[in-house]
Amino acid sequence: MFPLFQTASFSFESAEEQAAVAAGAQEGFSYSRSTNPTTNAFHEVIADLEGGEEAVSFASGMGAIHAAMTAVVGAGDHILCTDKVYGGTATLLTRTLPRFGVTHSLVDMTNLDAVRAAIRPQTKLLWAETIGNPLTTVLDLKALAQIAHEHGALLGVDNTFASPYLARPLEDGADLVAHSATKYIGGHGDLLAGAVIGSHDLIHRAKVICVDVGGCAAPLEAWLMLRGLKTLNLRMERHCANALGLARFLVEHPGVERVNYPGLPNHPQHTLATERFGVMVGYGGVLSFEVKGGKAAAFQVIDRVKLALRAGSLGDTDTLISHPATISHRLLTPEARAVSGVTDSLIRVSVGLEDLPDILDDFRQALAGLA
Ligand SMILES: Cc1ncc(COP(=O)(O)O)c(C=O)c1O
Repeated sequence: MFPLFQTASFSFESAEEQAAVAAGAQEGFSYSRSTNPTTNAFHEVIADLEGGEEAVSFASGMGAIHAAMTAVVGAGDHILCTDKVYGGTATLLTRTLPRFGVTHSLVDMTNLDAVRAAIRPQTKLLWAETIGNPLTTVLDLKALAQIAHEHGALLGVDNTFASPYLARPLEDGADLVAHSATKYIGGHGDLLAGAVIGSHDLIHRAKVICVDVGGCAAPLEAWLMLRGLKTLNLRMERHCANALGLARFLVEHPGVERVNYPGLPNHPQHTLATERFGVMVGYGGVLSFEVKGGKAAAFQVIDRVKLALRAGSLGDTDTLISHPATISHRLLTPEARAVSGVTDSLIRVSVGLEDLPDILDDFRQALAGLA
């Protein structure tokens, strides 16, 4: 394993050497908010996995998304964002960025004509998610990159749900990729981190924000991510296989109204998802489903699971179950929640690495009697 440099600062043999490193005249490390060998090693690996020139890491996915956005936009600029966006990103756009003069609007990015029509002269950034949360909406990133570039804007993509094992948005023409590395990159539910990957120029801008704001990932987190990435392939294959198995079980269950999973033939973007990643690996480890009986029934199912954990994250080794309307999307207005497709009866599952029969047994007993 690459060593863990668990240090804030680095010492030097002489004042001259320290001055040379500080001035950039000599290679070296002086302070871990700017650079650290372990975080640098993680940057090289994640940049390589995403097919980008460079990467920078953050203390969380939101730190990464904030830096990716503000590396591109400033006061007076507009962000056009997918309407099926992670709740935290939506609140960054509605609560914090407007205070700095950045406006946004939401659009259904599965409708490319609507995307074209929503672009304004001030639009500098289109923000998409490879697989949207929690409806698992799959976006055509190639088409979105083309539209963005035709209008002089850039495309940023949150690739958290897919991970670089399923999708590499930079190869589709995206300019920046952001991750909540808390999820599949770390993979074990034991860290919070984020990453941004892109060209030297854009990552340089994101690095400046990281140093100025101080939101860098800690060396221990970088080390854990390096370790997590060694099993990304094995984990993603198992997550995908288990999620497909659970989706197929749920779709047949009389107590289930509908299942959102790109691997199901009736998913609106099943063909696109199959072309882009389904045939190679699978369709991701997250699914959501609506139960008959509204919020009460959804809470009942969540309360009854025994193997799955009631927790709001995703990409862990364990299966996690949550209620988006009261967890990830709780800060959205009821109207915005409706646009996101987050109903009171919707349950999200991040399918873990357990044996599939155990997962199916758990959901069978949790859903028993629901019809
Ligand atoms: C798609 C997506 N992006 C970003 C984030 C934010 O990441 P973090 O919690 O690491 O800040 C999340 C968190 O759930 C997420 O699901």
